[in-house]
Amino acid sequence: MGAVSLVVLLGCCLLFVPIIAWSSDATLNDDVLGLIVFKANLRDPRDSLSSWNEDDSNPCKWVGVKCDNRTNRVTELNLEGLYLSGKIGRGLLQLRSLRMLSLSRNNFSGGISPDLLRIATLQSLDLSQNNLSGAIPDAFFAQCRSVRSVSLAGNRLSGEIPLSLSSCSKIASLNLSSNQFGGAIHSDVWSLNGLRSLDLSFNFFSGEIPAGIDKLYNLRTMSLRSNRLVGSLPANLGSCSQLNSVDLGQNLLSGELPESTRNLSACASLRLDRNSLTGESPTGSAR
Ligand SMILES: *[C@@H]1O[C@H](CO)[C@@H](O)[C@H](O)[C@H]1NC(C)=O
Ligand SMILES: *[C@@H]1O[C@H](CO)[C@@H](O)[C@H](O)[C@H]1NC(C)=O
Ligand SMILES: *[C@@H]1O[C@H](CO)[C@@H](O)[C@H](O)[C@H]1NC(C)=O
Ligand SMILES: *[C@@H]1O[C@H](CO)[C@@H](O)[C@H](O)[C@H]1NC(C)=O
Ligand SMILES: *[C@@H]1O[C@H](CO)[C@@H](O)[C@H](O)[C@H]1NC(C)=O
Repeated sequence: MGAVSLVVLLGCCLLFVPIIAWSSDATLNDDVLGLIVFKANLRDPRDSLSSWNEDDSNPCKWVGVKCDNRTNRVTELNLEGLYLSGKIGRGLLQLRSLRMLSLSRNNFSGGISPDLLRIATLQSLDLSQNNLSGAIPDAFFAQCRSVRSVSLAGNRLSGEIPLSLSSCSKIASLNLSSNQFGGAIHSDVWSLNGLRSLDLSFNFFSGEIPAGIDKLYNLRTMSLRSNRLVGSLPANLGSCSQLNSVDLGQNLLSGELPESTRNLSACASLRLDRNSLTGESPTGSAR
């Protein structure tokens, strides 16, 4: 064998060895590969993820990672407040058993990937208090399936709430507070009848509060505070019998307080301050 062909042969082997190593334990290493690819896309100035090591075939002891103790698949990824920045890469899509993802209180930037909810097992997604921008992609919520909780609060997101939100039939908590969302609140939101907590406060939502809010019979907490909502209060606001906190303050609402709000104020904290409402104010915290 000539020297040249030996070099070629060695070159081949050096290339192939890592590939063979990756594929030797396919299911387990999907998770390792996904996490390493995710880490490769971000900046970690405090070296918080130093335990994330690609030579370790078991990610279950890595910082922020929790696994199912029978299957050893990654089920939770909680990286709150680790000063991470960069883009939320596609590596996470490899985590096929992920149920909970929180990247809250970091400095992730860029847009929201349209695929993030494609992880079929995902129940809880918290991207709050980062630096994400742009619109929520139209089809983002179309793959919602088992998702119960979504928070995108405290970013720089804009645009309207996509109509695909109505696919999230199991959603119990939606928090879009403190962004730059605008447009109308579509009446489809009221079709999410598992919703217990809805926070759309501190955005630029405009138009009227659509009719049909009484369909949210599981709703406990709702804040539409500090938007540009006009028109009158929904007449049947008081029929959401489980409501214990409603904040519609700091909008452009007008007209008479509906009779039903008097019922509501008996059991709920009701804030209506800084609007142009008239009529007898219900006892409680309304102004
Ligand atoms: C697995 O986890 C469950 C719940 O977290 C716990 O009750 C159980 O004891 C664990 N099993 C083992 C073998 O560690
Ligand atoms: C956040 O990330 C951006 C780049 O995406 C960077 O310019 C900025 O300095 C970071 N801010 C902090 C507080 O780390
Ligand atoms: C947010 O990201 C932009 C780049 O997209 C960057 O210029 C800015 O510094 C970031 N803001 C913070 C608070 O880090
Ligand atoms: C929505 O998220 C913001 C920021 O994380 C938080 O302060 C607020 O309490 C949340 N709203 C609800 C109803 O949990
Ligand atoms: C207020 O509550 C009473 C007693 O529960 C009920 O009969 C009445 O219809 C309610 N009024 C409105 C406007 O919802």
